[in-house]
Amino acid sequence: KELFKDYFPIGAAITPQHADPNTVHGKALLEHFSSVTAENVMKPDQLQRNKGTFTWDNADKIVQFAKEHNIKVRGHCLTWHSQTSDWMFYDEDGALLSKEIALDQLKEHINTVVSRYKGDVYAWDVVNEALYDWDPDGLIFYREDSPWYQMIGESYIDSAFVYAHRADPDAKLFYNDYNSIFGWKRDKIFELVKRLKENDIPIDGIGMQGHWFVGTSEEDIRTTLDLYRQLGVEIQITELDVSVYLSGDETGSESYTEAFSIRQKQAYRMIFQVLLDYSDIISGVTFWGIGDDGTWLDKPGRKAFPFLLDENLQPKPAYFEVQDLV
Ligand code: XIL
Repeated sequence: KELFKDYFPIGAAITPQHADPNTVHGKALLEHFSSVTAENVMKPDQLQRNKGTFTWDNADKIVQFAKEHNIKVRGHCLTWHSQTSDWMFYDEDGALLSKEIALDQLKEHINTVVSRYKGDVYAWDVVNEALYDWDPDGLIFYREDSPWYQMIGESYIDSAFVYAHRADPDAKLFYNDYNSIFGWKRDKIFELVKRLKENDIPIDGIGMQGHWFVGTSEEDIRTTLDLYRQLGVEIQITELDVSVYLSGDETGSESYTEAFSIRQKQAYRMIFQVLLDYSDIISGVTFWGIGDDGTWLDKPGRKAFPFLLDENLQPKPAYFEVQDLV
């Protein structure tokens, strides 16, 4: 965080248990990170599991910790098809809600959450993963299996941004998605954000999740950043983790090998060099965890070791590689 402070904040996704300066995770956070995001506890189903009953304890703990230690908070996320309670989508008989009810509930949720953290959460992922994914032929634009899309149509995206902006006009508002560096998705994100800007929808930036691999292509990242630059929006890398496996590699290891270390040093050096080269448009870089002991990518027998800190939260060779760039 110190070395990059003139470029962008360095963030980590955390649990409420991490938000404690007396834990090893809390100490690592204070040493290395200038921003935090709740990995799960600010998602719709966590804040409003049942209609009208909000549960704030976990999210509050993170926000409180951040305030006490002068750390920024990135909010994640307000509108998503996943980790959202069924009552937001279906009635008692399991039928999809009407557009009117759906929009009402969306507005209530966004307004309540954003208002509560007004001034404390500086940026929000307002809409997460609205676009269809694996689509090399470019035939389907929106993720049609999203209940939000089914209930409301594409305008749910516009509405979500308007509600968030009304609740906190100073918060930076982001559209967030994964696989953004691949042509078929990259262009859709571009088209979507272009449409929102043309319609004067209050959007500030694009969140590129950054669930990458050691083999991720530099050219893909640069091409994407060049394209998004044309939109005049900020870019944040919101969920960075760089798995030690090459894309499509099905093998797995429980230990961090020399080969992993070499590949990962190269990958992280490349990625942070690119981010520095584009630091005029990049306003934040968040890792989707703190150290290799806690990552959503791990599977039995197959650890992903995706971060710059190891399982004991000590710097890995890749960490020093990144440090050398600035
Ligand atoms: C993941 C969390 O890391 C997991 O703990 C949870 O079980 C599922 O969600 N894209 C997103 C994040 O926007 O919210 C997801 O986080 C990872 C993919």
